[in-house]
Amino acid sequence: SGRDAFPRPLAGRRVLVTSGPTHEPIDPVRYLANRSSGRQGHAIAQAAAEAGALVTLVSGPVAIPNPPGVTVVRVETAREMLAAVEAALPAVLAVFAAAVADWRPAEAKGAKIKKDGAAPPPLTLAENPDILATVSGMAQGRPGLVVGFAAETNDVIAHAQQKLARKGCDLIVANDVSAEGGVMGGTRNTVHLVGRDGAIETWPTLDKDEVARRLVERFAGMIVL
Ligand code: CTP
Ligand code: CA
Repeated sequence: SGRDAFPRPLAGRRVLVTSGPTHEPIDPVRYLANRSSGRQGHAIAQAAAEAGALVTLVSGPVAIPNPPGVTVVRVETAREMLAAVEAALPAVLAVFAAAVADWRPAEAKGAKIKKDGAAPPPLTLAENPDILATVSGMAQGRPGLVVGFAAETNDVIAHAQQKLARKGCDLIVANDVSAEGGVMGGTRNTVHLVGRDGAIETWPTLDKDEVARRLVERFAGMIVL
C-alpha cells in the first residue's frame, strides 16, 4: 500500500527456493559434495520473504545461518531434496539455486570402508533425479514461474540456453563459476538472465544480497497473479 516504506509484491504468495550443495554418502563417514556455499539461494529466500512471500527454503548442508522469516527444510541428498520440494508445493514461484550433486555413489555402504591394503575401492556412480526438470515438467500443479540456475565455467550463455531448453524452465540465471571469478563461496556474483524468448540480460557484479533483491523484484513482475 502507499503507506508502506517498501513494496511487498509477493504478499501472501507461496515461494519455494532450493539452496546449497547436496551430500551423497559413500559410507557413514564419507560423502561426495561440491563447493556451493548456499549464499545466493539463501539470499533469494530472504529477499522473497522481505517481499512478503511465504517462503520454504529447501537447503542442503550449509555453514551459513537460516534466513529470518523463512521456513527452512534441511536435507542432505538430492533424493531428499526432491522429496522436500514436492512436499513444499504448490507455489507460485520456484527458484532452484541449489548445486545438486549430479551423481551419487550407486551404493552407500552401511559400514566404514576400510583401507585393507588391497587396491583402492572403485566408486560406481548413479545419476540423481533432476529436481528442476521434474518440477518444470509437472502436468499438474507446476509453479507459474520456474527459475533455474546455471553454474558454468565456460560458454556461459550457450550452456544456459541449452539448459533452459532441456529442462523446460521459464528463466535461467547463469553465472561464471570458474575459479578466477571466486563466485563459489564468495559474496559477489555476476549473473546473466536468459529468457525463454531468447532475451539475454547481463547484470553488473553485485553483492549476492543485492542480486537476490533485484531477482525477486524481477520474478514478482513476471508472475501472473
Ligand atoms: N538441478 C536440479 N537437480 C539436479 C541437477 C540440477 O534441480 N539433479 C538444477 C540446479 O538447481 C540448477 C539447474 O538445475 O537450477 C542447472 O544445474 P546445473 O548443474 O548447472 O545443470 P546440469 O543439468 O546438472 O548440467 P551440468 O552440471 O552438466 O552443467
Ligand atoms: Ca549439475
